[in-house]
Amino acid sequence: MDKRNKHKVAPIGIFDSGYGGLTVFEKIREQMPAYDYIYLGDNARSPYGNRSFEVVYKFTRQAVFHLFQEGCPLVILACNTASAKALRTIQMRDLPHLNPFNRVLGVIRPTVEVLDQLSRSKHIGVLGTSGTISSESYTIEVAKMFPHIQVTEEACPMWVPLVENREYDSPGADYFIRKHLDRLFTQDADIDTLILACTHYPLLLDKIKKYIPEQVKLISQGEYVADRLKDYLLRHPEMENRLTHTGSCRFLTTESAEKFSDAASVFLDEPIHVEQITIDA
Ligand code: DGL
Repeated sequence: MDKRNKHKVAPIGIFDSGYGGLTVFEKIREQMPAYDYIYLGDNARSPYGNRSFEVVYKFTRQAVFHLFQEGCPLVILACNTASAKALRTIQMRDLPHLNPFNRVLGVIRPTVEVLDQLSRSKHIGVLGTSGTISSESYTIEVAKMFPHIQVTEEACPMWVPLVENREYDSPGADYFIRKHLDRLFTQDADIDTLILACTHYPLLLDKIKKYIPEQVKLISQGEYVADRLKDYLLRHPEMENRLTHTGSCRFLTTESAEKFSDAASVFLDEPIHVEQITIDA
């Protein structure tokens, strides 16, 4: 059944492997409260960070397909790992036959676009999951757009589990955060701009600030992704006209709805209603 008719809304779909994308969703909704949204977290299969290209691609494609079925003409992959490992293949291989008029956008490009104006030293650090860092997506994207910028990347595989297990304020968090920041700045002491290239990391912001030089700028992606999305919709009236504006918001998860609404309270200031779904068909 085409669920578009059932809900009579054409929302913006926001996808993440789990909760992290809520940090992006929050900023998007803050800037554009009138639109309808569906947030989908694939919590039953998260984290994606250490998974292979094939698996991240397969899971992400299933999620995008589900959001299209729910009536979303536009889907944002609010997950760096999915953006790094699945976005391009979905855009090139799947969209033309799934629905050539729908769009899927990621978080890497909007983040890279602001780097030249933010960095004075032109030395950038990138912190992300093993999947995002091993894909070298940031280095590749920066080289295309700003070849004069030097990029140093560091994988922080323990940081997502710290957030997911609500250990972000613990002494254990200090250990793992310091370890990766020390490694990064040992490789390049001239870094003046640091990308939190994982949508979970804004939850670690206070601790990260403790272990970096004061003058280093920290980039949480949410506001930049929201800015670029606003701009995209201005430049693409054919997409903007398809989106509905009743201000509704649905939250879907592949894990327990109760667990999701409980954990989401760490990311959002309001209680939410959550629906459990399956997307692995
Ligand atoms: N939200 C994902 C990202 O931004 C990280 C979580 C995961 O590993 O699934 O990369």
